[in-house]
Order: sequence, then structure tokens, then C-alpha cells
Amino acid sequence: MLRKVVLGLSGFVAMFALSTTSLLATEYAHEFSDKKMSLAWSVNGDTLAVKVSAPTEGWVGVGFNPTDKMKDANFILGYVKKGKAKIIDEFGTDKTKHSSDKKLGGTVDAVLVSGVEEGGVTTIEFTMPLNSSDKNDTKIDVNGDTIVLLAYGAGRDSFKSKHKYRATFKVNLSTGTAEKAK
Ligand code: HEM
Repeated sequence: MLRKVVLGLSGFVAMFALSTTSLLATEYAHEFSDKKMSLAWSVNGDTLAVKVSAPTEGWVGVGFNPTDKMKDANFILGYVKKGKAKIIDEFGTDKTKHSSDKKLGGTVDAVLVSGVEEGGVTTIEFTMPLNSSDKNDTKIDVNGDTIVLLAYGAGRDSFKSKHKYRATFKVNLSTGTAEKAK
């Protein structure tokens, strides 16, 4: 009888620990990394949940589906300044330029989930619709190839500073296969 109660109690404790952990940290279905920068994501219905991390105290960024270098990409950039995270939604206006999606007549579609800067590493989590109503953003087809740009800036909390690292990947968001495209 006592054994049953102990077993029952330990099961309850384990369940409680599991549910607390899942409340505290989002688990992602897929992840890859390159030169210490990593991208993790899950496809949740018509929403993409993203975690991007890089060895910087400046900005970290992800871009989706450019037509040429940075042009026409849907960018989300974020940084953590004095413990407070900020993200911006940008659009690639040129091969080497981007500008505020909202200023270009689009909408801000990314939603900040969390941002942490710890030990020189910045991690930003956000969600975004796969098919936003934004006239600038293109629909993301999770079953096809998605071109994903990753970049991070140097240690300054400014979205204006250029990247210290940037790379282009071809990713299948539903299976998780990712290969470096450049
Ligand atoms: C913050 C302001 C940014 C500036 C001023 C900037 C500027 C530039 C410039 C001048 C180039 C061409 C020269 C080079 O290759 O270094 C370039 C290329 C590139 N940028 Fe940016 N960039 C910015 C943000 C971003 C962001 C947020 C991403 C991705 C998340 C990104 C991804 C890339 C990639 C992947 C390339 C290489 C493209 C290719 O050669 O195919 N950039 N950028």
C-alpha cells in the first residue's frame, strides 16, 4: 500500500516537473547551426515558431525567401538591450538593403516570444504566420524549399550595423533538412 502511494507520488512529481519544464521552455521540432549561429523552428498549423541564436551582444536575424541576395526577403531582426528584447519586421528592398516593412506599406507580423542575452550569446524567439496578409511577404510553403538567410551583427544594439556573419541556406521546414546554399 505504502509502495503504491510512493509510486503514485513520484509519478505526480515527474508529471509536474515535465509540465513545468514545457511551460518554461519551448521545444522545437528542428534545428541546425553554422559557425555558432543556430536556428530552431516548429511548424504549428499556419504559424512558424522560431528560435535564433548567435554569439553576439548585438542583433540576430533571419530572412525568408529572397529573390536575389537580400532582395525581397522577409526579415525578422532582434536584439536584447538592458534585458529587454526588441524585434523588427523588415523587407529586403535591394540586394544589400532592407527597410521597415510597415514603412513600405506592409504589416508587422512577427510576434516576440522571448529574448535573452547571456554569456555573449543572444537568443530571440518569435512566431510568424506562414502566409501573412502583408503585401510584401511571400507565402512560405513548408513542404517545398525555403531559402533562409541567417545573420548577426557585432556587439552593438543597433539594427543599422552591418552583419559580422551572414549565410544562405536551403531548408525544408517540414522535414528539417537544411543545406548551405552559399
Ligand atoms: C542590418 C543591416 C544590413 C546591412 C547594412 C547589410 C548589408 C549587406 C551588404 C552590403 C551585403 C553585400 C556584401 C556582403 O556580402 O557582405 C550583404 C549581403 C548579405 N546579407 Fe546583409 N545586410 C544587413 C542585414 C542583413 C540581415 C538581417 C540578413 C539575414 C538575416 C542579411 C543577410 C545577408 C546575406 C545572406 C548576404 C549575402 C547574399 C549573397 O551573397 O547571396 N543581411 N548585406
